[in-house]
Amino acid sequence: ESIEKGGYEHFMLKEIFEQPRSILDSMRGRMIAESNHLMMAGIREFENKFANANRIIIVACGTSWHAGLVAEYLIEDLARIPVEVEYASEFRYRNPIINEKDIVIAISQSGETADTLAALELAKSKGATIFGICNVVGSSIARATDAGAYTHAGPEIGVASTKAFTAQVTVLTLIAMIIGSRRGTLETTKLHELMVELETIPAKVEETLKLNEQIVEIAEQYKDASNCIYLGRGYNFPVALEGALKLKEISYIHAEGYPAAEMKHGPIALIDEQMPVVVIATKDSSYEKIVSNVQEVKARKGKIIAVVTEGDTTIPAMADHVIEIPETSEHLVPLLSVIPLQLLSYHIAVMRGCNVDQPRNLAKSVTVE
Ligand code: G6P
Repeated sequence: ESIEKGGYEHFMLKEIFEQPRSILDSMRGRMIAESNHLMMAGIREFENKFANANRIIIVACGTSWHAGLVAEYLIEDLARIPVEVEYASEFRYRNPIINEKDIVIAISQSGETADTLAALELAKSKGATIFGICNVVGSSIARATDAGAYTHAGPEIGVASTKAFTAQVTVLTLIAMIIGSRRGTLETTKLHELMVELETIPAKVEETLKLNEQIVEIAEQYKDASNCIYLGRGYNFPVALEGALKLKEISYIHAEGYPAAEMKHGPIALIDEQMPVVVIATKDSSYEKIVSNVQEVKARKGKIIAVVTEGDTTIPAMADHVIEIPETSEHLVPLLSVIPLQLLSYHIAVMRGCNVDQPRNLAKSVTVE
């Protein structure tokens, strides 16, 4: 087993550090910016269906559901098709309205999650086209779909999902770009810019992983916290949910992810000098808005751990801790901003003596209801 961990203390840490490679593998052969090549074998036959879809419904559970939320922002913005993201377990029992012009995307690392499988079977019985995004080749969900694309993250052993999430987001980004260009909602120059930027992401993830030592120091200061709030807006809202999920899964600290502006409708009541608040506030279209949310936290003496874009000075002036990540397009920022949150939860859990790779009560794949 120690050989399989490749010198890392845990599978989770190894998998976090594999992300430059797994992201690259998930785009390899599907996109070459230089030659404007953008192609996904699984989608080719269904490109017309996608381009003419009335609606895209994404069904998933857990971390895969968070990747689905990122896809909602991507597909609506780049391809202008309405997207709904559903918990598979709710969708399947709700008598949902589905028809032949809908496309259902099922996202699952394992391809074996019972609720996700049942949700797609239901949608299929109502005539929708089912597209799968799975990591495990030949899995039940991969076999039950009409078409699909594999994430090439490689085996993920740690129960808390890390590299599967970024691989899913990579594949979903390619899909949004393909549909957007096919529908003409994403103009060629913008598409090319995004492709060029996406190609730089593995190197930028590598850069982001160098923050590891700094994050160990932050973890040291918050390892005894009993609660934690994660805030983000826009593309970083699903990242806030994912950061909170990672922390609670493996360290057993109660954590809540929230859209930063919703904070005033509840969580703000929890903020005092004991409350760590992780704010993901990169330079993007919601930056100015999140600055004022950070001021609201500061005014209540919350401890601010801010993930910002390199070179930012406004938020660092208010924050207790600043984690700087490389600049990128806002469409791609989750691929970078999630990395420090994975590392933070990992180190806190290790310091608390938790079983990081196999947290209590959790399973890698939930094959029963
Ligand atoms: C379990 C795992 C999570 C995972 C979720 C969905 O809860 O512990 O890490 O995100 O299932 O799994 P799937 O294989 O469908 O992505």
